Amino acid sequence: MPFQLNINRKPRTVDAAEDTPLLWVLRDELDMKGTKYGCGIGLCGACTVLMDGTAIRSCLTPVSAVTGNITTIEGLGENGKLHALQQAWIDLDVAQCGYCQGGQILSAASLLALHPKPTDAEIEEAMTGNICRCATYNRIKAAIHQAAG
Ligand code: FES
Repeated sequence: MPFQLNINRKPRTVDAAEDTPLLWVLRDELDMKGTKYGCGIGLCGACTVLMDGTAIRSCLTPVSAVTGNITTIEGLGENGKLHALQQAWIDLDVAQCGYCQGGQILSAASLLALHPKPTDAEIEEAMTGNICRCATYNRIKAAIHQAAG
């Protein structure tokens, strides 16, 4: 059935079964591959996107439960400019394999919306659900501090 979504500040209509996870709508219907599949059960954070600025797991969110504006890693920057977090990730060379990093950045964006100057403890708590098999956690923390300014 058709669903009207707002993805990265643009209205999009998708045709999907109501229980289709948003992850697959993004990747397969809208060809937006920045949102990654890791575990499919809400444990790794690779599929993180923002709904009205709050981090959600797109693998656990049926398209029929999308009630707000969705931001993916493709839409985090605006007007052709990288988001401060994306720039910090580049400056500090955070990524190793890179697979989880879009989800990491979106979880960090959700954190900064609540805590513009997060402490180490706030970062650790907010980022605990985003797993990185390359263990880039220290660089992630440094990049969040840099982006917070
Ligand atoms: Fe969604 Fe792992 S793929 S949390």
